[in-house]
Order: sequence, then structure tokens, then C-alpha cells
Amino acid sequence: MEVKNKYVAIKANINGAPEESDFEIKVENLSHMFEPESKEVVIKNLLVSIDPYQINRMKSQSSSQTSISYATAITPGEVIDTYGVGRVLVSHRPDFKKGDLVAGLLTWGEYTVVKEGSLLNKLDPSLAFPLSYHVGVFGFSGLAAYGGFFEVCKPKPGEKVFVSAASGSIGHLVGQYAKLLGCYVVGSAGSQEKVNFLKETVGFDDAFNYKQETDLKSALKRCFTQGIDVYFDNVGGKMLEAAVANMNSFGRVAICGVISEYTNASTRAAPDMKDIVYKRIRIQGFLAADFMPVYADFLSKTVEYLQDGKLKTIEDISQGVESIPSAFIGLFNGDNIGKKIVKVADE
Ligand SMILES: NC(=O)c1ccc[n+]([C@@H]2O[C@H](COP(=O)([O-])OP(=O)(O)OC[C@H]3O[C@@H](n4cnc5c(N)ncnc54)[C@H](OP(=O)(O)O)[C@@H]3O)[C@@H](O)[C@H]2O)c1
Repeated sequence: MEVKNKYVAIKANINGAPEESDFEIKVENLSHMFEPESKEVVIKNLLVSIDPYQINRMKSQSSSQTSISYATAITPGEVIDTYGVGRVLVSHRPDFKKGDLVAGLLTWGEYTVVKEGSLLNKLDPSLAFPLSYHVGVFGFSGLAAYGGFFEVCKPKPGEKVFVSAASGSIGHLVGQYAKLLGCYVVGSAGSQEKVNFLKETVGFDDAFNYKQETDLKSALKRCFTQGIDVYFDNVGGKMLEAAVANMNSFGRVAICGVISEYTNASTRAAPDMKDIVYKRIRIQGFLAADFMPVYADFLSKTVEYLQDGKLKTIEDISQGVESIPSAFIGLFNGDNIGKKIVKVADE
């Protein structure tokens, strides 16, 4: 069997904001990979995740590239791995058979050759949800939202919670988990449409468009007259500084990501460290993979909330491998509401 695989690659390392011209669509022949002794599984990709952290993998150098295996540097011209959902086309392993639906480490392309040891799990057909949920809300976005909020922020009912990039994949879930716990929740986002979405569709108590604010510290003071207890940070930079200035004593800041700093290192946050000391604020970074021990708990609660209509998950799905570069670039321009996914092929 001969299979041609169309995939997305970077032409060279990207050290600033990504542009269409940084990417190319390449074609490779996969026929030589179908050797029975290879222990490989060939997947037809169906849905692939589009995530901000990939930009750090595309840089010529970033400290993140040596942190965990998922964050290693991407080589120009080569396939780019990503979380996704697909169907087994060929299997040389006894635990997978042709036709199985799987979720795992796939690629920004039409097919993935999954080597032994790489993340690959069969999907539970009894979970009657759209396949895309396995990329977003049941994948690393959902796990980061749940684990980052409950395990790192240690929230209590009634506490005041601030979420940045609140209309995004992780942010809109964090705000809803916080509301379900009984917190007061405010989100920041980059347009009026997103502000309306947060207040009207996913039930945030309040939201503001950070692009329209001249002074972020005052904006947060206006929204949190009694201060912030928990800040779930997706953006870093000036917003982190403003949030720290508005934190209450013993406040907790979970650093999920710092997207405003990924493409512009000059925006790096410099919070007032005296605030951290005198208000005894705890700031902790985390990676979604840290929460695998609570995955079962996360999944059962999230499934229950979705089934009961208490949690909404919003997705923004583009079509075709060719749309991957613009879908990715759009994350840095605020184009998406909810989880950004590319549908590579029909089921
Ligand atoms: N720790 C982990 O394990 C983990 C896992 C996944 C993601 N993350 C991180 O979590 C954050 C959110 O990721 P996501 O997948 O949920 O993405 P997302 O929020 O769905 O998409 C990115 C959003 O960030 C906002 N944004 C872009 N540039 C910005 C800037 N300069 N300043 C402020 N906001 C900006 C945009 O919304 P606006 O219109 O509101 O600007 C955009 O829609 C990222 O920092 C990501 O790296 C961490």
C-alpha cells in the first residue's frame, strides 16, 4: 500500500509572531513505513489540536524546549506533532486494530505514523459526545483548566476569581468550573463579542475588553472591589502585573501560560515583588500532564456537568490541512472563541 501524506511544516525557525509565509505544505510517501516488524500504527488523522505552545517549539531557542518531551524543538521541514483524534489505518501492534478510533500524539497532517511508546489511547465508544470533545474538553485543554483551577488554585466557594484569555479554549472552561464551585468570576478578552460571549453564553459574572482599557490595574479594581483571591493566568505580561497588584492576602496565581510573551519577549511581566511578600501570594506554574493522576476524576465530573447541561464547551473548527497555518496564526490575533481545532478528514 502506498499512502501520500500531506503535512504542515515550518520553513525555518520562527522567533517572532508567526505568518503564513513561515509555513509550507509538504507531501511525503509513507509506503516504506508499513513494515510488520516496525510495531508502528498508522493513523488517518481526523481532528487535530491547534495550541499556542507550539510557537515556543518553533523558536531557534527557548528554555521550554528542554522541559518535557511534548515541548521539544520542531525541526524545519519535518512533521509537527500535536494532540488529536484519528482512526487506525494499519496496525502492527496487537492492542490496536484497523478501524479503531484513537486519541493521542498525532501530527499537523493527513496521517501519523505512531511509534511504540508514543501517546495513543483507544477512545471509549460509550462516551456519546462529538469526537472533537476528545481533542478539547476531554484533552489537555480541559485537563489544564480543571487541574490548574482545582489542584493549583485550591479555590473555595465564594472566592473572587479572575481569568485572562477567558473566551479561549482553557479560559471558558475555567470560568465555568469556578461558577459551578460558587465563585465570583470575571474574565478578560480581546473584543466586545467575546465579552458578550462570556457573560451571556458561559455565565461569567462580569467581563471586560482589555484592549479598550488604558489602565489594567484600574480595570481590575473596578471589577473586583473586594480584591482577587484567585488569578488563572493565560497571558502573563501587563495583565499579570495588574492582577498581582489587585490580589488579596494569601491569593493564588496559577500560571497556565503567558501567550502575550511568546511572540514578544519585551512584554515580560515584572510584578511588584513586595506585593508577593507582604500579601503572601503564591504563584505556581503547571503543565496539564501533571494532572494525569486526577484524569479519571476530571473526566467523570466533566462528563456529568456536560450531560446535565451545567458546562458548555465551545469549539472553533476549521477545515483541511491547508487551514492549519492560519488557524495557528489566528490564536495570536485573537481570532478564536473556544477550542481551536482543525478537521483534517471526515469520520
Ligand atoms: N500549562 C499547560 O499545560 C497549558 C496547556 C494548554 C495551553 N496552555 C496555555 O494556556 C493559554 C491559553 O491557551 P489556549 O489553548 O486556551 O488558547 P486560547 O485561549 O484558545 O487562544 C489564545 C487566545 O489568547 C489571546 N491572546 C493572544 N495574544 C494575546 C496577547 N498578546 N495578550 C493577551 N491575550 C492574547 C487571544 O484572545 P483575546 O482575543 O482575548 O486576546 C486568543 O484567542 C496559553 O498561554 C497556552 O500556552 C497551557
